[in-house]
Amino acid sequence: MADKNGLLVSIKFMSVALLWLLQCFQYGMAGGDRKGRWVLLLNNMGVVGVHMALTHHNTVIIFDQTGVGPSRYRLRRRYNGTRCRDTRDDLTDSTCYAHSIEYDISSNRIRPLELYTDPWCSSGSFLSNGTLLQLGGFEKGSRRIRYFRPCGDRECDWKQSKRLLSDERWYASSLLLPENDRVIVVGGRREFSYEFVPKISSDEKSFGLPFLHRTYDRNAGGNNLYPFLHLSSDGNLFIFANQDSILFSYKRNRVIKTFPRIPGGGSRNYPSSGSSVILPLDYKNRFLRVEVMVCGGAASGAYRAARQGRFLKGLRSCGRMVITGDTHKWRMENMPGHRLLNDMVILPTGHILIINGAKRGAAGYNNARNASLQPYLYKPKKSLGRRFTVLKSTKIARMYHSSAILLPNGRVLIGGSNTHNRYALRNVAYPTELRLQAFVPHYMDRKYHKFRPSNFTVQYGHGHNGIKYGEEFHVQFHLGRRPNKDVDFTAYAPPFTTHSMSMNQRMLKLRSKSMVRAKSGLVNVVLEAPPSPRVAPPGYYLLTVVNGGIPSISKWVRFIYA
Ligand SMILES: *[C@@H]1O[C@H](CO)[C@@H](O)[C@H](O)[C@H]1NC(C)=O
Ligand SMILES: *[C@@H]1O[C@H](CO)[C@@H](O)[C@H](O)[C@H]1NC(C)=O
Ligand SMILES: *[C@@H]1O[C@H](CO)[C@@H](O)[C@H](O)[C@H]1NC(C)=O
Ligand SMILES: *[C@@H]1O[C@H](CO)[C@@H](O)[C@H](O)[C@H]1NC(C)=O
Repeated sequence: MADKNGLLVSIKFMSVALLWLLQCFQYGMAGGDRKGRWVLLLNNMGVVGVHMALTHHNTVIIFDQTGVGPSRYRLRRRYNGTRCRDTRDDLTDSTCYAHSIEYDISSNRIRPLELYTDPWCSSGSFLSNGTLLQLGGFEKGSRRIRYFRPCGDRECDWKQSKRLLSDERWYASSLLLPENDRVIVVGGRREFSYEFVPKISSDEKSFGLPFLHRTYDRNAGGNNLYPFLHLSSDGNLFIFANQDSILFSYKRNRVIKTFPRIPGGGSRNYPSSGSSVILPLDYKNRFLRVEVMVCGGAASGAYRAARQGRFLKGLRSCGRMVITGDTHKWRMENMPGHRLLNDMVILPTGHILIINGAKRGAAGYNNARNASLQPYLYKPKKSLGRRFTVLKSTKIARMYHSSAILLPNGRVLIGGSNTHNRYALRNVAYPTELRLQAFVPHYMDRKYHKFRPSNFTVQYGHGHNGIKYGEEFHVQFHLGRRPNKDVDFTAYAPPFTTHSMSMNQRMLKLRSKSMVRAKSGLVNVVLEAPPSPRVAPPGYYLLTVVNGGIPSISKWVRFIYA
């Protein structure tokens, strides 16, 4: 009897172990040392990281909304110079508080920036000279055009243009175009149109976009706000809203292609708030194959249900579709869990980090529950079923109004989360989150230092302020050992991030024409710049050497018109 029982117990034990192993295999949970770690950078950065963008001066512009009332960054003086006193009026006066900051990565310090109108739920794009163009917002801010010209001396600040947008752009998306340093801005609440900034002529207005009308879900808070925008390398625009997508010629104001609807039900755009990326473009196919990936979102009816206190499970599926060529089909796969309000960050390795968000509900104040605390890593080139890994959990919920951006040191900066229309720090399920964190992927661990290319430098030609399209340029780095057989050179366009959107995020794997390593360990490489601004719109990119999956510290390069 005892033997039989023992056998049963061991069979039971073995099947449990086998199931566990299978799960580990499926979601790669086995590699405990490859899960990354979390670092707390600041306990109180004063404002909520609703919007974040990395400048080429290695600072991060962060802002919230001016209409949220007092932030946790009190000013001694208002921007108009009058003193902020300890009177009740001044203590509750929003103008006595900063709503935007600049974070300096190397010193881990912040300084306040000055906003004149409300940039709540706005959009942004870097211009070719590294200036951040930021568009729209709420009420008096909804047609505003703002510039932030990054500098090294902490003197720069927001500038508001006297010109206005044609339409109100609240929850709109923007993208830098290849030509003329122009940005396109698409959609927004009650606006079924797009427009350009700057305009080519003074009588240029906005253009109607019926696709936005068609994808608008009135009873669900829209489900097509913050449409996903990606520039295809054929020079056309990919626009995704709700469940549908088109290839659009902004030059001819014409829909070129209507793609099949993404399977999986539910919806992907605000307030369903899934996320999207274009997978890294590769010199091996001359950057001509462009593949989009959309992950997460909310179930059908989730927004209304959340209003009534019921929080439906978010979507679990991701879809991938090649948007170039002639045949288009969404290829679906499942994430390890249900997720919405998620950010998708392309890491220097070309892998996709899915981070932040929740498991249930929708976007908007108090509309989501069950924070997604585990990041997922997605390896696009692995075979189906082996692409996802579950990474190290954080203890800090990053729900609605949170964001994530890649830094030059290989880390991912995480800020924000506020599910309230004011700062609510106590006695709520999800308090307003002012802590600034970094997720540090495993590849930055000390034990990989010996594989890490160091002293990475980029040489521009004499008298050039950038690298021309198609041109060769030289880089140098040091490696104490022979390079791995896979050495990649990636160029990354830093996005403007908000509401699970990473506008303008783009990665290119560049061609290396020669690589020579001297006995000293110094490696000299000749790289080839991307062939055209359609492939890589002009501007600053983070260049990284990745040696067998271990990235160097990234350097800024600038691609310029001839
Ligand atoms: C400065 O701003 C405050 C708050 O908006 C306002 O009450 C005050 O009148 C302003 N003072 C001047 C000199 O503009
Ligand atoms: C970049 O271009 C914009 C728009 O033309 C301009 O406002 C800004 O001052 C320029 N920035 C730099 C650093 O030259
Ligand atoms: C979701 O959160 C609720 C509390 O808000 C909790 O009772 C429940 O167990 C959570 N569910 C999951 C799947 O984490
Ligand atoms: C790398 O750079 C540092 C400082 O810039 C220098 O001290 C060091 O010698 C360099 N190492 C190599 C191997 O070139």
